[in-house]
Amino acid sequence: MKIVIISGTPGTGKTSVSKIITKKLNAKMISLNEMVLSNNLTLSYDHKRETAVIDTERIIEHVKRLVNACSRDNINILIIESHFSDIIPNELIDYPIVLRCHPDELIKRLNKKHYTYEKIFENVQTEILGSCMNYLIEKNLGKEIIEIDTTDLNIESVAEIITDMIKYNKNIEQFTQQRIDWLEKLFQEDKLHEYFD
Ligand SMILES: Nc1ncnc2c1ncn2[C@@H]1O[C@H](COP(=O)(O)OP(=O)(O)OP(=O)(O)O)[C@@H](O)[C@H]1O
Ligand SMILES: [Mg+2]
Repeated sequence: MKIVIISGTPGTGKTSVSKIITKKLNAKMISLNEMVLSNNLTLSYDHKRETAVIDTERIIEHVKRLVNACSRDNINILIIESHFSDIIPNELIDYPIVLRCHPDELIKRLNKKHYTYEKIFENVQTEILGSCMNYLIEKNLGKEIIEIDTTDLNIESVAEIITDMIKYNKNIEQFTQQRIDWLEKLFQEDKLHEYFD
């Protein structure tokens, strides 16, 4: 079984894209956020940040049990998606993928999800700093991380790129040898002041 990890800042399209890939590849999908909520895998609630503090240890135990069950059921491809996918142990990651999105477009997508102004700003800054990518880099996976800029792609196209990579190893180099740097891009566009005081 191959395990695909899809990470990225909220709003980059992880869930939408994963649902399509799951169908296309006849795979199984785990949405960590949903799993945490339905199994109460939290430690506490951070009222200031309006977010739950996740219980990483119990989440990993849970994921390992699901991975074993998928192996037993002869599932070929398992997709695990979440903005905290980096908590998955290295040995369980075959394809590490991070979805990226230009801050201007990310604001639009998060608005569609009715996030508060504070939450949108927090997430957009996280995306500008490339936090999800950096967490995966810090894991020293010993394999290239696939980074896809979804800004000008529709959900179907992103799903197709990933499906082709997994099925045919198509275009992998194209998506592993770039480094998306929104800080640099916003600097060039003279927009940094819009996002940082
Ligand atoms: N490539 C895309 N082009 C246009 N809109 C998109 C794209 N990807 C996602 N969206 C839209 O952005 C919103 C966020 O998508 P989605 O919920 O899949 O993101 P997510 O990464 O799973 O976020 P979260 O981490 O909050 O679960 C949705 O309204 C979705 O329709
Ligand atoms: Mg999601």
